[in-house]
Amino acid sequence: MILSGSATQQLAAALAAALGEDLGRVEYDSFPDGEQLVRVPAVDGRAVVVASTVSSDTHVEVLQLQDAAREAGASEVVTVLPYMGYARQDEAFEAGEPVSARAVARAVSTGTDRVVTVCPHEDAVLDFFDVPATGVDAAPLLAEPLPADLADPVFLAPDSGATDIAESVRDGYGAGATDHFEKVRHSGSEVTVTPSDVAVSGRDVVVVDDIIATGSTMSEAIAALEDPRRVFVACVHPLLAGNARLKLANAGVEAVYGTDTIERAVSTVSAAPAVAAELD
Ligand code: R5P
Repeated sequence: MILSGSATQQLAAALAAALGEDLGRVEYDSFPDGEQLVRVPAVDGRAVVVASTVSSDTHVEVLQLQDAAREAGASEVVTVLPYMGYARQDEAFEAGEPVSARAVARAVSTGTDRVVTVCPHEDAVLDFFDVPATGVDAAPLLAEPLPADLADPVFLAPDSGATDIAESVRDGYGAGATDHFEKVRHSGSEVTVTPSDVAVSGRDVVVVDDIIATGSTMSEAIAALEDPRRVFVACVHPLLAGNARLKLANAGVEAVYGTDTIERAVSTVSAAPAVAAELD
């Protein structure tokens, strides 16, 4: 049975359909003091908890769903974190800081037999879990909604870390060059991006990243492009915090494509087939 977190219902439904498993009718409740509560139906066999941890509340919800699943009779609990929050805090960047990704991974591990996540920020994050953990690649699916008539396309990653994802989307599309920019992050919302050598004048450009959070990385990357024909943006995790969507629109983006690991208006691509292939 698929047991969905409150923020991941669209993907959970698609996953249940892809696997031919029941979609549990989970109830989400809260107390006047803000504490949350979930209720799940009786489970016979495997429970698959599907919940992106987009906030501290959804982190708690995952732990509650895992515990409720066991209480409801699950013989095995698999936890799918389509988007794993805190994954970018994968080291202590200054003395006194936690390795937050490790802290949350350990907590999630206590209630599950296995973890699956989609395009983790770094594969090394998977080692933080105390149970078997796998990352699945949903990036090739982002090629689906791209126009079929891209002109001499270039798939650009805003930094070297996203090169693999840009190549995956290019491979999914079936044609085009790939390259990456150099990025320096100055703060949580300030970055500078140095263009690659590839000439984009008159060409269609698809800028690809694993996550768009504040939109600073994407908008700086797009600003560095010289005379592109059209610019499209594709990302696995469309967090789109604050005014990120406005930044992209102001940068002249033709269209933004994201997956349903995070449910936003741009989440037109479902990551369900990639997750289903891992769970089947
Ligand atoms: C960082 O390495 C990631 O791949 C993304 O480039 C980054 O998290 C995007 O953040 P923002 O949208 O806030 O610039």
